[in-house]
Amino acid sequence: MKDKTFLMIPGPTPVPESVLLDMAKHPVGHRSSEFSSILKEVYADLKDVFQTKNDVFVLTASGTGAMEAALSNLVNEGDNVLSLVIGNFGERWAKIAESLGANVERMAVEFGQAIDGNALKERLDADVDKKIKIVTLTHNETATGVTNDVKNLVALIKEHGAVSVVDGVTSIAALNCPMDEWGIDVLVSGSQKGFMIPPGLAFIAVSDKAYSVYEQCKHPSFYFNWGAYRKSVRDASTPYTPAVNLFVALHTALKIMKNEGLSNIHARHKKLATALRAAIKAIGLELFVKDESIASYAITAVLPPAGVSVPDIRATLKKDYDIVVANGQNALKDKIFRMGTLGFVCERDLLAAIASLEASLYKLGHKFELGSGVKAAIEHLV
Ligand SMILES: Cc1ncc(COP(=O)(O)O)c(C=O)c1O
Repeated sequence: MKDKTFLMIPGPTPVPESVLLDMAKHPVGHRSSEFSSILKEVYADLKDVFQTKNDVFVLTASGTGAMEAALSNLVNEGDNVLSLVIGNFGERWAKIAESLGANVERMAVEFGQAIDGNALKERLDADVDKKIKIVTLTHNETATGVTNDVKNLVALIKEHGAVSVVDGVTSIAALNCPMDEWGIDVLVSGSQKGFMIPPGLAFIAVSDKAYSVYEQCKHPSFYFNWGAYRKSVRDASTPYTPAVNLFVALHTALKIMKNEGLSNIHARHKKLATALRAAIKAIGLELFVKDESIASYAITAVLPPAGVSVPDIRATLKKDYDIVVANGQNALKDKIFRMGTLGFVCERDLLAAIASLEASLYKLGHKFELGSGVKAAIEHLV
């Protein structure tokens, strides 16, 4: 049926109708007082979502743009960067740092695992000369559905003295990530995830410590220059022509978020993801992340049952029920499928998705008790 598609991928995520309608208005001039008042509210509301007193810069870019904006304002050629890699997106930090001429060391784990705090402590303790300048890490690894214990890892990095650079692309506005309380130096995110608006904006919040490292950066980025962005935030403006309609969308979405309340948003993500996992197990499928204490509340990775392929599950869900779930990435392609419970997703959406997954698996020949997933989810939700 036309116009019924429901995205259960980890981004882009569904967008509320009021946001879409506001976005559809004529663009406003980016130097107008009207836009400046929108910016003032957006910049203030973003601080609440990032749980920080630091300025939050808004870039016209995707999440990777914010990642590049983070490192390209910090890294000088030859700097030592330690990248904590638990999946594709952790690896992206390492690649960006390498592109800037850094010496990159990776601390990697098997996919499906999180970084072990003891291993990080050991590595940082061994760096007695404090050669490591920056540590990059991912809060929520979208490729695997694992959440790192950022609070603990950042505390270790702080103790060492390096700058912590955290990817919060699929965690901000979904999982609790209090930037100031946890002492994160640089935190990035993207619009098409927990923020409930389409792709095209990215966010970067910068601590005073990180800003002073930027001031020593020999060749900081021009387009993503922190100095230019900091000045603009303080003037309620933007350095260049931004995606104005997306800012209007963000303005509306932030009001919706404020209305729901950040802790309620976090609680909703937790409830939906844990209900989904209960349903998956009840249907007889296996979760990719075995240790549920590190399983993400934004994205759940699932192994297909024996004899049924990931492409068939995804195709049946799309063709017969208009629900889109994501494939695995790279080495995990066709080995797992990933269901997002990220952003503008409610209990009704989840129940519809679980029922549709059951129907798809039934059609594809998986043997299980029909309704068992929906029952498990309802028992969890109610
Ligand atoms: C954890 C994480 N980091 C970074 C990115 C990259 O964001 P983008 O595709 O918006 O550039 C994504 C995208 O899904 C992500 O999930």
